Amino acid sequence: MRKIVVEGGKTLRGQIEVSGAKNSVLPLMAATLLTDGLSVIEDVPWLADVDVMSAVLNSLGSSCDYICGCLHINSSGIKKTEAPSALVQKMRASFLVMGPLLARYGHARMSLPGGCAIGARPIDLHLKGLEALGAEISIADGYIEATVNRMHGNQIYLDFPSVGATENLMMAAALAEGHTVIGNAAEEPEIVDLSNMLCAMGANIKGAGTNIIRIEGVKNLNPARHTVIPDRIEAGSFMVMAAATGGELIITNVITEHIKSVIAKLKEAGVKVEEGYDGVHVIGNKHLIPVDVKTLPYPGFPTDLQAQFMALLTLAGGVSVITETVFENRFRHAEELKKMSADIKTAGHSAVINGIKRLHGASVEATDLRAGAAMIIASLAAEGQTKISHIHHIERGYENICGKLAAVGAKIQIIEE
Ligand code: UD1
Repeated sequence: MRKIVVEGGKTLRGQIEVSGAKNSVLPLMAATLLTDGLSVIEDVPWLADVDVMSAVLNSLGSSCDYICGCLHINSSGIKKTEAPSALVQKMRASFLVMGPLLARYGHARMSLPGGCAIGARPIDLHLKGLEALGAEISIADGYIEATVNRMHGNQIYLDFPSVGATENLMMAAALAEGHTVIGNAAEEPEIVDLSNMLCAMGANIKGAGTNIIRIEGVKNLNPARHTVIPDRIEAGSFMVMAAATGGELIITNVITEHIKSVIAKLKEAGVKVEEGYDGVHVIGNKHLIPVDVKTLPYPGFPTDLQAQFMALLTLAGGVSVITETVFENRFRHAEELKKMSADIKTAGHSAVINGIKRLHGASVEATDLRAGAAMIIASLAAEGQTKISHIHHIERGYENICGKLAAVGAKIQIIEE
């Protein structure tokens, strides 16, 4: 088994660069299915999830080539509209090919998606929206099959501003006949990034980044070249690492507007954050102040940084409360942090963290992608050695994490055990 081993207690210092956003790249890749010809996506991080999405697209008949940080995707040769279940099971985001396949080819079949173990994560909002656009959907034996002659525009209201449902529906509506209005849409920066690429392909979309998105369907879309936005969750993770080690990091390739809630919470915790043109300068503080954090859809505090903040707050001087409102079962990292001496109690959607002076190295598990980042944060700050198992979760979303952290002073490596 491969493990990450960290010798804790080293202060991080230096400059570190954020990669392109995983959560943007995956829908952008799916969007290429809406076109014939060669699209180029720039600043693509080399991650396990990108590899899985490439395999999904290749299995349908696209060709994906990763050349020097750019993905060249040609979706002219689509032969199949059914994605292999082994791939779909690996990654929930593979469900994002549903909308484009339906809109372009009138048919899609795939198994119910898998992904990180952070709750039930249904897909009802995707399916309700696609039905509103005219799709006929049947579910049998763990497979979803959808057909349509041509999608037609409609008014859709999402019961929750789901990121994936908003993306799937935007892509489907881009080629539908007539107008679509998505109400209570997700407002995440990744939605704006997708809208920008779809508009570069010739789509007519207004309002991305607000909770009402208006789409006037067009007959066809053309390939495009697009640069992915920086990964705000990776940026936030590095900021927390600087804070947890009492270090000082200049983090580049950051759009600070995307992480306002994170900057605000770090400042509240006593961490110094200076915003620059292309990044942030974070100066840690050995005396962290406890803070309460509530996760919310964007622009609220991101659920994808909840675990990392929990790791940080285990070292604050007092009691912090974290409330998770986006996912119903996203505290598995608390048990792992407790193995490192953290004092945490969870009940329902809340976790109460009583800060302690020092964490201690231990053998822990990355129970999901962001929980894995939390384990790295805790182990960087801890006394002694920590071994983190199940690191394939971390490799789904953090490009060259050990290399990047070693370059700013961490003692971290991957071993085979
Ligand atoms: C995306 C992100 C993920 C992030 C999440 C919330 C990607 C590839 N992943 O996931 O990192 O944690 O947004 O910011 O972009 N829900 C339903 N029915 C649905 C869809 C969702 O009930 O049809 C619920 C989910 O169970 C969850 C909540 O809505 O409780 C948010 O999910 P959603 O915004 O859809 O997350 P994802 O798009 O899966």
